[in-house]
Amino acid sequence: MLNITKIKADFPIFKNHPELIYLDNAATSQKPQIVIDRITKFYSNENANVHRGVYPLSEEASEAYDEARQKVASFIGARTNREIIFTKGTTESLNLVAQSYALNNLKKDDEVLVTDFEHHSNFLPWQNVCQKTGAILKILNSDEKGFISDEEWQKKLNKKTKIVAIAHASNVLGTISDIKKIAELVHGVDAVLVVDGAQAIPHLQVDVQNLDCDFYAFSGHKMLGPMGIGVLYVKEEILAKMVPYQLGGGMIESVSLDDVIFADYPEKFEAGTPNVAGAIALTSAMDYLLATGLEEIRKHEILLSEFLLAGLAKIEKVRIFGSASANERTGLVSFYVEGVHAHDLSDYLAKRGLALRAGFHCAMPLHQSRACGATLRASYYLYNSEKDLEFLLTSLEEAISYYG
Ligand code: ALA
Repeated sequence: MLNITKIKADFPIFKNHPELIYLDNAATSQKPQIVIDRITKFYSNENANVHRGVYPLSEEASEAYDEARQKVASFIGARTNREIIFTKGTTESLNLVAQSYALNNLKKDDEVLVTDFEHHSNFLPWQNVCQKTGAILKILNSDEKGFISDEEWQKKLNKKTKIVAIAHASNVLGTISDIKKIAELVHGVDAVLVVDGAQAIPHLQVDVQNLDCDFYAFSGHKMLGPMGIGVLYVKEEILAKMVPYQLGGGMIESVSLDDVIFADYPEKFEAGTPNVAGAIALTSAMDYLLATGLEEIRKHEILLSEFLLAGLAKIEKVRIFGSASANERTGLVSFYVEGVHAHDLSDYLAKRGLALRAGFHCAMPLHQSRACGATLRASYYLYNSEKDLEFLLTSLEEAISYYG
């Protein structure tokens, strides 16, 4: 069982904002002191550019950056650190797949499959490459809970499918997709599987070899790490089929006036000065999660989901999005209240110190497919307690009677 009081004390934001009940973890998580300290330490003691200088400070910074890559590889079970590309976040990771892999491997009338619950980051890059290549973008429609049925896969997946892109966990429904099973289906037609792991990796143990996906994208900032650092895992045999789309310093072997030889991967896909402090501090966040215990965190979130789902089910006019089973979700619940706008509700709740996201959560196609307006989303993490959610429920009831 997690010791929430002790965990909360590790996060200075809660000391600085004692009234804050932070339930917007799907947008970004708060940062523990060790992550903040690691960034300060880098800039105070270790700052130099990497893989450029031959003086000690630069060599040490390069070593620390390479170690960070190795630690990330171990955290997600990659075969080698060559499969880890640092980016600025999930969005950049997915755009990298689209521009460096898809644009060079898709041709007219090939098919790309995405689901109707994707975040815009895992939808717009595919819309864009399909427009550029003449490939066809097809949508996998999810059921009420946010799962893709076997019939839907049979109907949409075929020999023309070259890429399937899916969120490991939806940022609105919270639903966790069975990536291992999906990888089998996708590989059965010789297509590649791109997984948006932004909402899953903060909450679940991820082993990319076990999942057998070809690409796995995630951000540091939703898993206690800093903003501006993210990761793209690419299965090694696929790296050779990718062409860099950002060109510049740090990614070349040699350049002449009329030619270029690129460096080996992963550096080849990291043009420009990387976010060295961010990569190192991300591994401090991973250390913190591992020390706290990924399984314990997951169990805690399931208890919180059960509590919140049961509480919301008792409030008249509240309609919950996604599965009623806590086991099928990550730590979030989106809902709407009949007759009251989500922004009015979040405004009312904010006055009580409750921080929740209201709107379409960068997933407009999902809201359209459910014929629904804006929703409210409560997303919790290891430092949230049942008390936080109890306060949300009573405040929500007050808000509904105020507006209703
Ligand atoms: N992708 C983040 C969210 O869903 C920002 O809130």
